[in-house]
Amino acid sequence: MNISVIGTGYVGLVAGACFADSGNDVICADIDEKKIQRLTRGEIPIYEPGLEELVKRNIKDGRLQFTTDITYAVKNSLVCFIAVGTPPGEDGSADLKYVLEAARDIGKAMDGYRIMAGKSTVPVGTADKVRAAIREELNKRSKNHEFDVVSNPEFLKEGAALDDFMKPDRVVIGADSSKAAEIMRELYAPFVRTGKPILIMDIRSAEMTKYAANALLATKISFINEIANLCEAAGADIDNVRRGIGTDSRIGFEFLFPGVGYGGSCFPKDVQAIIRTAGEHGYDMKVLKSVEEVNCRQKGVVVDKILKYFGARGKGQGAKDKPLEGNTIGIWGLSFKPRTDDMREAPSITIINRLLDLGARIKAHDPEAMDEARKVFGNRIEYIQDNYEVLKGADALAVITEWNEFRRPNFEKMRNLMKSPVTSHTCVAPRFVVAAYAKNTPHSSPSSRLGLLCSDALYAQLFMSLCIISSF
Ligand SMILES: NC(=O)c1ccc[n+]([C@@H]2O[C@H](COP(=O)([O-])OP(=O)(O)OC[C@H]3O[C@@H](n4cnc5c(N)ncnc54)[C@H](O)[C@@H]3O)[C@@H](O)[C@H]2O)c1
Repeated sequence: MNISVIGTGYVGLVAGACFADSGNDVICADIDEKKIQRLTRGEIPIYEPGLEELVKRNIKDGRLQFTTDITYAVKNSLVCFIAVGTPPGEDGSADLKYVLEAARDIGKAMDGYRIMAGKSTVPVGTADKVRAAIREELNKRSKNHEFDVVSNPEFLKEGAALDDFMKPDRVVIGADSSKAAEIMRELYAPFVRTGKPILIMDIRSAEMTKYAANALLATKISFINEIANLCEAAGADIDNVRRGIGTDSRIGFEFLFPGVGYGGSCFPKDVQAIIRTAGEHGYDMKVLKSVEEVNCRQKGVVVDKILKYFGARGKGQGAKDKPLEGNTIGIWGLSFKPRTDDMREAPSITIINRLLDLGARIKAHDPEAMDEARKVFGNRIEYIQDNYEVLKGADALAVITEWNEFRRPNFEKMRNLMKSPVTSHTCVAPRFVVAAYAKNTPHSSPSSRLGLLCSDALYAQLFMSLCIISSF
């Protein structure tokens, strides 16, 4: 099948490469000339495991092309996917300007029947606006080509995008034409051979499904973060509680790891957008407003702990408004989650900016996101190529992103590298803020505080070891 994908970002590039790999002829179009030049050379502008190999193979086999010529892409395809960004507008609603621009480009270029498949995450009712934009462009040219608009939301996760796209749990297609629905079903058939469903539904329900899915996942994260906070206060162990509830088949383990709060290009903006859509319909989304509030608060928890520790020890050497002056905080992990270089809405941004405001010096490492992080922090922090080097002279370490390589570090090496924040009134030399807390709050077990300082309960191992280190 001939396909075009308009917008070659995280979603468009993955979708284009995967469709090409299943035998389709795919043209990926984008307005970003530099990006297209790099892609044409087989260079991948983002970090996504396995993507480079897939793109190179399909370029070589002649099934995948890149262009800035959207007219060429539309003229040579039956299905035109729109995968452009839908960033939050000032009022939190999804900004549809890129989607509608792409729709108008399709309307200007089409020369016969086309399916316009919306992959961007868009509020209920957007398909109607897209249809109107295409129709307007056709009218301008006095053309009456038949076309269908379908909603085909994308559920891939950055870091596991290829697997998610190639083996989706389900494919959602919102269509009001059986012709378009059948063409989409044919296109997706190779991806659901293990019996996973293709769910055909009305367009509005498909548009809403994507927001409902992200909103529920964000809710699980804020929920477990609240339970973790309460566990710490009440002397329970969040890791035990997590296992206790996760084994219930009605609940499951997914998205129940406490941490520093959710980030990324989807959850924050999609939760805001659904709240906004509800408002437009006169409905108050009370649960989701709290989900967002809890998430904002959660990003402050690590900072509060660092502040409390150094403040309590009289370690803060700076002025009142710079209580962390003289302290070096090491950061492991900058991207919003592991296996991506995506820094959009990463909790590390809020955390580091706050620590800098409080006077701390920041030394940071991330396996893939340092180039992206430079665009955010500039030279306000130090970027360290080796994660252990971060610890040299550091007073504390905050593990923000659960990259695999941080899961079983060499604790002996860590202990030797870190500066000991020993003060005159303590005979113990705790080298980590987390470790210090293990000693200072005897009623809560180590892993109960784990989720508040790290973003994955698998850090139990790390945390336990840090407690041992603190007793040296
Ligand atoms: N990133 C994810 O994990 C993910 C997952 C599911 C859904 N989504 C949704 O998919 C959409 C795209 O997200 P993304 O992360 O891939 O965005 P992105 O910012 O990485 O990519 C968007 C691309 O669209 C291009 N573009 C903008 N206007 C254009 C136009 N008129 N014509 C051609 N190209 C144009 C931009 O240059 C950019 O390359 C969003 O609505 C997002 O919410 C994202």
